[in-house]
Amino acid sequence: MAFLNENYLKLQAGYLFPEIGRRVRQFCEENPEAAKRLIRCGIGDVTEPLPRAAIDAMKAAVEELGDRATFRGYGPEQGYEFLREKIAQHDYRDRGIDVADDEIFVSDGSKCDCGYILDILGAQNRVAITDPVYPVYVDTNVMAGHTGTARANGGYEGIVYLPCTAENNFVPEPPQAHVDLVYLCFPNNPTGAVATREQLSGWVEYARAHDALLLFDAAYEAYISEAEIPHSIFEVPGAEECAVEFRSFSKTGGFTGVRCGFTVMRKQTLGKTEEGKKLPLHPLWHRRWSTKANSVSYPVQRGAEALYSTEGGAQVSRLVEHYMQNARILSEGARAGGLAVYGGRNAPYIWVKTPENLGSWQMFDRMLRELNVVVTPGSGFGSKGEGYFRISAFNSRENAEEVARRLATLS
Ligand code: MLT
Repeated sequence: MAFLNENYLKLQAGYLFPEIGRRVRQFCEENPEAAKRLIRCGIGDVTEPLPRAAIDAMKAAVEELGDRATFRGYGPEQGYEFLREKIAQHDYRDRGIDVADDEIFVSDGSKCDCGYILDILGAQNRVAITDPVYPVYVDTNVMAGHTGTARANGGYEGIVYLPCTAENNFVPEPPQAHVDLVYLCFPNNPTGAVATREQLSGWVEYARAHDALLLFDAAYEAYISEAEIPHSIFEVPGAEECAVEFRSFSKTGGFTGVRCGFTVMRKQTLGKTEEGKKLPLHPLWHRRWSTKANSVSYPVQRGAEALYSTEGGAQVSRLVEHYMQNARILSEGARAGGLAVYGGRNAPYIWVKTPENLGSWQMFDRMLRELNVVVTPGSGFGSKGEGYFRISAFNSRENAEEVARRLATLS
């Protein structure tokens, strides 16, 4: 019998969203009438159809594969040049950030990349993670054996937690202590908070002073509405030496099911050996992709490329505007219900304080039973999320308006 990876046995309960799904299924089985009016604002999954530009490009690409003259087999493991060039040009060079095409690595999504990146990082790194946090950063470190055992509060030994609270506007200061690896996500999932240029500069300064690496998840950058908020960590000078950025087409082109994202791995970004020798991470990341993967399918990459066309860009903007209007409607509904509301201005997530000091799962149950609305309990994102819940704005307008009406009845 083969030995199993015992790190998996350290993981707490199920992954958050399957656990919510299980509870909702049980509720629906026991309450078939209420189930009919159930509205899901839990997982941040898009609801609106794909942009027409992406559909047409993917269809045309499939036709190409169906013709001997234009057929393609394996693509480049790091992604097709046509897509890497578009990304580097539109998302970075057009914004004054000098990213080269071969610093873009196309993947099946930023959730996946956040896990894959651990392939090239040492197990001895001291890891700092915000609390609350997107659970993928924590669980992938647990699986890789980078943490100790679980604590009673849901955290893990060995991880440095950075509390994100209403007092610090859900943006943590760099720690006093030394850490090697820091996960940052702005606009933030789950709190919807954004970091200012000064705050991000503080993190880059910390990383450079400590030879630390920032893993910057910018999956929601398209939702930033305030002009002065940075969209990329590479807007901060010096970040190219100490940061890796993850981005996704999931929440821009609605690709949660299509699957496509990318990592920006700069050639100047360094890691170190046990002996202290500093080496660039880029060749390791390149090697990782060459060995373990073949990027994503040709039609999907053509679909992603089409999001950068004039019409594709306009269609993406309309999708983002649709979800952000939902966020405004939901925020107003929650406020009308007497709730304290955060986020939702530069992000598609609304972070809400539970009333009457209810626990997060208690509020989850109340929302499910009384309003027939599925939300995400804040404690599922970390101990500092206790006493909060998250409402996702990824929904139809009709559903967002109905949820807002129901929220308003809470007062
Ligand atoms: C969420 O609900 O937090 C996100 O949908 C998760 C994800 O994008 O993987």
